[in-house]
Amino acid sequence: MMNNIVKKLFREHRLTETEYIELIKHYEETDLAKYLADEALRLRREIYGDAVYVRGLIEFTNICKNDCFYCGIRKSNPNAERYRLTKEEILDCCENGYHLGYRTFVLQGGEDGYYTDTRLSDIVRTIKDRFPDCAVTLSVGERSFESYRLLKEAGADRYLLRHETADAEHYRRLHPPELSWENRMRCLRDLKYLGYQVGAGFMVGSPYQTAECLAKDLVFLQEFRPEMVGIGPFIPHHDTQFADEPAGSAELTLFLLSVIRIMLPHVLLPATTALGTLSPVGRERGMLAGANVVMPNLSPVKNRKQYELYDNKICTGEEAAECRGCLENRMKSVGFRLVTDRGNYKP
Ligand code: 5AD
Ligand code: FES
Repeated sequence: MMNNIVKKLFREHRLTETEYIELIKHYEETDLAKYLADEALRLRREIYGDAVYVRGLIEFTNICKNDCFYCGIRKSNPNAERYRLTKEEILDCCENGYHLGYRTFVLQGGEDGYYTDTRLSDIVRTIKDRFPDCAVTLSVGERSFESYRLLKEAGADRYLLRHETADAEHYRRLHPPELSWENRMRCLRDLKYLGYQVGAGFMVGSPYQTAECLAKDLVFLQEFRPEMVGIGPFIPHHDTQFADEPAGSAELTLFLLSVIRIMLPHVLLPATTALGTLSPVGRERGMLAGANVVMPNLSPVKNRKQYELYDNKICTGEEAAECRGCLENRMKSVGFRLVTDRGNYKP
């Protein structure tokens, strides 16, 4: 049974929801994860060789109007020390990153009303102007079609917006009523329509998540076909209502990375900071499971601890250069190399 499902996945790069449920329920079976990882790695090498793409992550504001139950920077956390980088500080991060060999900058932040379309477009335009050989990725949450259109016009190339869960009921258990799964999906469709390279994704092991939820996530990804998929384990944050929930499993995250690589062989797949937080060699193991991207932190050291989505986040004390060197060694230790490249999707 399992064997047939795996063979079908290798052959057709897609399964039904029922088959995904079956696969996920058996993920701890002897040799199954290894078998999938080997195929994932083979596909990844065929398309991307031994290159690991780096994205310089600039966490430019932790001010957020939303109240997602799992997130440490949710608006109703009074203990979060809020900050917002100035345009100059953001540009300094890019300058620093450029010298370190980064050719993609990811501007990530909470849904901070200060960054109107005008202000954010101006920042994007200035970055594209000063670093014309770099890609700009935005990760600033849900906005209107018109806003996404203006930001695209300003030069943004890519957009990361995790769908968080493809199960509408599960979505409601992770978010307050003001946030809707329908709007999340609308945003993703708009972004794709506007020609962004889009990143979707979800947390592994978030509260109330079942094998059925994960199977829906996989079916959603196989239909939507994003260029990027960000997945990482859920990690509790002490100031949220999920403080006492268990963290997600690193093993299941790795298993799902392999499934996603096989399902979407060309996808850009980061080994996330959350995976590196949960397991000391999580990112290295992510590479061996089929990932091909890392997103080192480029934010100013003075603000790093403040962008605390979950507890014990790594890389909060390091200078950008240290993260670069650290990742270079880590990737080398598993037979890969960091490249100075925009790291485009290879269709
Ligand atoms: N654990 C792991 N990931 C989290 N995120 C937010 N809170 C947590 C948490 N407690 C993820 C969400 C979001 C991304 C920026 O970080 O999936 O989309
Ligand atoms: Fe940041 Fe290792 S990647 S210290």
